[in-house]
Amino acid sequence: MEMLEEIQKLKDEATSALGTLKSTDDAENFRLRYLSRKGALAQLFEKLKEVPKENKPALGKSLNELRTFLENEFETSRNNLGSKSPTSDGSLDLSIPGRKRYTGRKHPLTQTADEIKRIFTNIGFGIADGPEIEDDYHNFEALNFPPDHPARDMQDTFFVKSEEGKYVLRTHTSGVQIRVMENNKPPVRVMMPGRVYRNEAISARSYCLFHQVEGLYVDKNVSLAELKGTIAYFAKEFFNEEAKLRFRPSYFPFTEPSAEVDVNCFICGGKGCKICKYSGWLEIMGCGMVDPNVFKAVKYDENEVSGYAFGMGIERLALLRYGIDDIRLFFENDLRFLNQF
Ligand code: PHE
Repeated sequence: MEMLEEIQKLKDEATSALGTLKSTDDAENFRLRYLSRKGALAQLFEKLKEVPKENKPALGKSLNELRTFLENEFETSRNNLGSKSPTSDGSLDLSIPGRKRYTGRKHPLTQTADEIKRIFTNIGFGIADGPEIEDDYHNFEALNFPPDHPARDMQDTFFVKSEEGKYVLRTHTSGVQIRVMENNKPPVRVMMPGRVYRNEAISARSYCLFHQVEGLYVDKNVSLAELKGTIAYFAKEFFNEEAKLRFRPSYFPFTEPSAEVDVNCFICGGKGCKICKYSGWLEIMGCGMVDPNVFKAVKYDENEVSGYAFGMGIERLALLRYGIDDIRLFFENDLRFLNQF
């Protein structure tokens, strides 16, 4: 085709294309197609290099004119687009607030567990963990729950069907004590956080799964006084200087003597509420001196060493700390709740 014809053809084609521009996207496509560095116009300029020398001046002039023409027309069409833009025809409302982006954060239970770990690692405790599907031996037997012993009913257990042996969803983190002692010689001083399961009726106070942090300290001459001192230190760090503690004698097969520790109910200030069962006190942990039978099970010499253990419920501590009155909130993952922490 003659170059001059091509110039004319491009002019016609581009002019009619300009008439169809409706949006800024259209305008951009037009610009890419005709006016950009690889566009149709640039290609014609490229071809100009190949035409016979004597034709160059005339053709070059026509091409330059076409360029000025198209650039001006394009500019005009694009400016006119503004007057029928989405903002003016109502399809785009710039006054609508933008979408809010939420920042992620740690779940309040994770925050609470981290705080507990911090408090105890500061006084020399290490961290250990164990399996959530636990064998009967570690969850019960080595902890001095003999088979068929009624103490097994203290914790409503989820049993796991298995050909290989007796397994349960661990009912407490105390089994990790056994695993730690099996694998380490005394002294040991560890915290063992984790999820535990109990087949209990779900209510504001209890859920079928929850979290505990277990503590264990075994060495020569560890005393009950040290246990009390450590727990008092913890309560002051975790709550405040004024937190009141109460040690109630209790029973656990794996500790002797055993106690349960209560803290004064911050939610009602001791007057009584549904969380503290109208007693003014809230149980936060079980504890005691490691039972000699446990030492026997892990082949520690019970005449050489003594130790204390404690296990606390993370949900319970978080409820108290944040003044929440229903444990189920921790598991519903409602962002309106979680965003407050
Ligand atoms: N494992 C006990 C419970 O789940 C708590 C506990 C831990 C008690 C360690 C004594 C020593 O209730």
